[in-house]
Amino acid sequence: MTETSVPPAPLSASAEAAPGLPPPPSEVAEEPSGRSSSLPPRAPRRRPPDVVCRGDPGPAGLALARFVRPGCPDRLFEYHSDIPEPADNCLCFFEYGTAAGIVYASLRYALLSAAFAQPFSTPKHLALRLFGASIHPTAYLSPDVVIDPLFPSLLTVEAGALLGFGVRIALHEHGGARFRAGRVIIRRGATIGAEARIGCGVEIGEFAQVAVGAVVLRDVPARSIAVGNPARVVGHVA
Ligand SMILES: CC(C)(COP(=O)(O)OP(=O)(O)OC[C@H]1O[C@@H](n2cnc3c(N)ncnc32)[C@H](O)[C@@H]1OP(=O)(O)O)[C@@H](O)C(=O)NCCC(=O)NCCS
Repeated sequence: MTETSVPPAPLSASAEAAPGLPPPPSEVAEEPSGRSSSLPPRAPRRRPPDVVCRGDPGPAGLALARFVRPGCPDRLFEYHSDIPEPADNCLCFFEYGTAAGIVYASLRYALLSAAFAQPFSTPKHLALRLFGASIHPTAYLSPDVVIDPLFPSLLTVEAGALLGFGVRIALHEHGGARFRAGRVIIRRGATIGAEARIGCGVEIGEFAQVAVGAVVLRDVPARSIAVGNPARVVGHVA
């Protein structure tokens, strides 16, 4: 876990919030129905970032390059600047410091976009793996699935997971002076319903079911059923 610039921030994945960030709300919102009483413990609404960079975008870009390397144990990366305009804080083009970086990122974008347009799962597997994603051979990626082509190495899809038609997975986000990138992990046997959206840094637990059109911004516990926007746990898989 890494941090650059001042002030020092806690970098652990504990329940404490980083300075300048709102405290992490303790729990996932849950449907006010009788069904919720037997649900598994709720996942944290959000977790503090593992890597925090402040101020200078140069060192932040280097830290981001380390973060996106496959095998990095950290899950969430955040960069904060003093400038509130997101376009001025964008680290998406952190690879563009060299000609080789520009060529690599451009080819990656072209190849991934071509693969996402294919009706079959295999071209998506091959292209995503080529750029560092971990996609189990038995996972299935339906037609029209689109994975954030800027940070494909942040995606893990485990055995037997199914991504339905038109699923979108974001692996980075902007919010004013904050830029964030995060690993998305789809655990074994999970189902992501058609047209669902998964935000960066989210983990979908083993055999969990995400409903058609859900917008998932928080972790979904194993064997839970999550529906709606924002997605809420409404039950669990028998
Ligand atoms: C999530 C899902 C698996 C739940 O199915 P289920 O276990 O049969 O559960 P139910 O249909 O009883 O729904 C449970 C609750 O979630 C709600 N719900 C289900 N799907 C929903 C959705 N997409 N959006 C909002 N609420 C939804 C239901 O209204 C129900 O609420 P209630 O208990 O207040 O009536 C199913 O709705 C789903 O979305 N499957 C994915 C299908 C898909 O993507 N197919 C294409 C694959 S390529």
